[in-house]
Amino acid sequence: MEVLPSVTSGDSQIPEHVAIIMDGNGRWATKRSLKRLRGHEQGAEAVREAVKGCGELGIRYLTIFAFSSENWSRPVEEINHLMGLFRFFFQKEVKALCEAGVKVKFIGDIRRLPGDIQELIEDLKERTKDNSKLILTIALSYGSQAEIAGSMRRIADKIKAGEIAPEDIDEIMVARHLETADLPDPDLLIRTSGEQRLSNFLLWQCAYTEFVFLDVLWPDFRKEDLIGAVEEFGSRNRRYGAV
Ligand code: FPP
Repeated sequence: MEVLPSVTSGDSQIPEHVAIIMDGNGRWATKRSLKRLRGHEQGAEAVREAVKGCGELGIRYLTIFAFSSENWSRPVEEINHLMGLFRFFFQKEVKALCEAGVKVKFIGDIRRLPGDIQELIEDLKERTKDNSKLILTIALSYGSQAEIAGSMRRIADKIKAGEIAPEDIDEIMVARHLETADLPDPDLLIRTSGEQRLSNFLLWQCAYTEFVFLDVLWPDFRKEDLIGAVEEFGSRNRRYGAV
């Protein structure tokens, strides 16, 4: 792969954590008079491409939005197909992910998923737990507002148990009770398909994240698109509210 000089590994312009909202699978298929399901299948190929690209660029954390809590309201046929894709991907990719040094984590309400997928998730986590080149977090059945409410509940339980006082609650404590407690906040968030919104993804964690919106539909996403987004990130001046 041609890596542009400004984004060579070790360069400070490389974001440590990239988050991606993979959008446009349905439109990709409709444009080709195919069923939406075909778009999701091609989308899974693009996930492989993104993981590989992040590894090559030296990005340490990649978090992808694979299925939102709102996606449960899609037609049953589409949900079943997506579940089939997750099943296939989680089983088939273990070896390649291990070879590439990828550790896989999950965030979201995994208990809503079919039992066998929950088992595959546990297996994938276990088999990749010692890898450290890239931490791939898959948001599955995930909604950020529910995640924040969960953090509040866990803090409230500790107050009830007398372990902490309400005055102890600050931003660090809330962050430490989120499912992403062991991840740095995303530096760069990419959303494909031209849509420009967060859609209940990492609302708390994206307080100072740089957003890059790409017109490319997710199934067409390639390493070049990742490099373009990383270059755009490198040109931004991050001030975190200071001057
Ligand atoms: C959004 O496109 C995409 C999704 C809801 C599913 C994302 C899933 C994949 C990329 C499949 C594979 C993932 C893994 C981890 C193996 P959309 O259906 O909302 O597209 P549209 O906006 O064009 O209708």
